[in-house]
Amino acid sequence: MRFPPSFIEEIKQRLPVSAVVGKRVRLQKAGREWKGLSPFNSEKTPSFFVNDQKQAWFDFSSGKNGNIFTFVMETEGLSFPEAVERLAGEAGLQVPQMSREAEEREEKRASLYDVMEMAARFFEEQLRAAAGSKARAYLGGRDLGLETQRAFRLGFAPNEKFALRDWLASKGVAKEAMIEAGLLVHGDDIAVPYDRFRDRVMFPIADSRGKIIAFGGRAMEKDVPAKYLNSPDTPLFHKGHVLYNHHIARKAAHDRGTVIAVEGYVDVIAMSRAGFPNAVAPLGTALTQDQLGLLWRMGDEPILCFDGDKAGRRAAYRAIDNALPLLQPGKSLRFALLPEGQDPDDLLRTQGAGAIETAIGAARPLAELLWTREYEAQPLDTPERRAAFEARMREALSAISDESVRRHYRADMDERLRGLFDIRRDRPPRGGGWGGPGRNFDRAPGGRFGGGASFASGLAAKASPGLASHPMFAARPSATPREAMILAIFARHPVLLERRIEELADLHLTGRDAERFRRGLIDVVGSEAEPEAIPGLMQRIGLTAQLAHLEGLVRPGDRWLLDPEANLSRVSDALRQALALHRRAVTLHTELKAAERALAESDDETALARILEVKTELADLDGTEADPDEAAAAAGSRSRA
Ligand code: UTP
Ligand code: MN
Repeated sequence: MRFPPSFIEEIKQRLPVSAVVGKRVRLQKAGREWKGLSPFNSEKTPSFFVNDQKQAWFDFSSGKNGNIFTFVMETEGLSFPEAVERLAGEAGLQVPQMSREAEEREEKRASLYDVMEMAARFFEEQLRAAAGSKARAYLGGRDLGLETQRAFRLGFAPNEKFALRDWLASKGVAKEAMIEAGLLVHGDDIAVPYDRFRDRVMFPIADSRGKIIAFGGRAMEKDVPAKYLNSPDTPLFHKGHVLYNHHIARKAAHDRGTVIAVEGYVDVIAMSRAGFPNAVAPLGTALTQDQLGLLWRMGDEPILCFDGDKAGRRAAYRAIDNALPLLQPGKSLRFALLPEGQDPDDLLRTQGAGAIETAIGAARPLAELLWTREYEAQPLDTPERRAAFEARMREALSAISDESVRRHYRADMDERLRGLFDIRRDRPPRGGGWGGPGRNFDRAPGGRFGGGASFASGLAAKASPGLASHPMFAARPSATPREAMILAIFARHPVLLERRIEELADLHLTGRDAERFRRGLIDVVGSEAEPEAIPGLMQRIGLTAQLAHLEGLVRPGDRWLLDPEANLSRVSDALRQALALHRRAVTLHTELKAAERALAESDDETALARILEVKTELADLDGTEADPDEAAAAAGSRSRA
């Protein structure tokens, strides 16, 4: 009896070697592998190794090695078909009867791989050809140069209805195969099937072995209805089971012991260029449980790195729901949160690989994100609402199916709840807390709760300061680069803080984190510490962590100002200039608002002229610094097709 190769593959995907072997051999974790005493020879020191990533076992005492099937064949004396039947049962799969039709189907599948490979070559050639000049320019403009194009096999689908069809036909590919491969648009109402991908930059999507099974096509113009067009599901491709870049990331993840999931194709490429080849992406949907399963095969704690905007936060929260039922001892997720409105690709281009490393290095555990999600969902300003919060939390934890993980989660959440609700008793309220859910209280009907903002900021301090303050969770952007720079200069050079405290106090700040940090700094100075004592004080009230965050927002070219050893008079000049520019920008923003109001009311030509003038001056002034209102609006209106 023959089995379809895809079926054998499916069993291997579902059953880690360690699970199969572990039933017979006591295994111990050894780095990324497992080791145990050889089942083939009696021995005292383990010489038998299992590697789940490689889907293989190695027995050094006998020199044997193999996969899950050979293991049960060797240890239980089964034939191959018997082994397949046994393991299929364990994997919860029905053994397919390989009928004639099934065999034919399997052959057709095999030939579809060839069709996809041919299509990928065609798109690659088109990108190099004359027709591809616009696409090459587009990619160049996105910093995706020749080397990257080659590494990721990027291509171009020309703006013609039959280019791919005709080319494949000339190589002897039947139209039916092109349709099955999802390369043509067809249907009852379509007389002549035509190329699905036209005038798009092509990202080939490979399976875990590197065979091309689908494409994502990126439109180059802004106003095209679908920014990305993906292959439909085909016999080769099921969107929810596949991760972009899986085949490359698998090896890299094995070497590094961890894998990173990002949102988009270009983000994967950006990660790879930033030194993280162990990056994958789902294909435009939230991570499915299947995809989470693939991630966990690559590492115990995959890092999910989502865009710093609402959609990114939603994606993270959805991933939590999918992950909870699957958590196992030692298997979890971490979340890397990017600055407001940035995806890994933006971040790499604006702030360099270091900023990505920082974000990945600061990834937060799943438990913390879950806490924040429930914590931010509703105000907690009444006993009933706090009780409801607790109930929501318990409900969420009941989704964890592993008993031991669930128990530890309960303990963890109990601890956090105690911390949260005890705070009013333990601690006198203190202003100047960092980030956090102050707005929950602000939004609450009937005004603020008791001590108002101090209660809220106290909560934030106890909850999860790092997370709550993250711009992804903030209503307003955290700080503009210039605000961040000004505040960081003050913090790093306490002498200047003393000299210019009035100016600091008068500063108009747009960013929410900037505002809080300023309050903290003024508190510190107000405590009449000597300049030398200031760093210690900052550390004690939690300003140092905030400072690190702000410094991350400072433009790379300005970072030298933050070195405490930097020449003080140069720093002082730079500060004076930054303050002047900042004040000018604030004035212009006010004028802009006024002119916009005037225009709205009267349709007045001079108002329009003034708006343009102000905008030009602002652009000169700010360089690349975005208007925080505009940035927030853009982030809010972002949606995906
Ligand atoms: P994003 O909208 O975050 O785009 O979609 P991106 O990855 O930053 O793309 P660029 O940088 O503008 O080129 C993330 C992913 O969602 C899927 C794609 O897989 C994309 O990489 N997507 C997005 C679609 O499938 N269709 C769309 O219209 C948009
Ligand atoms: Mn992007």
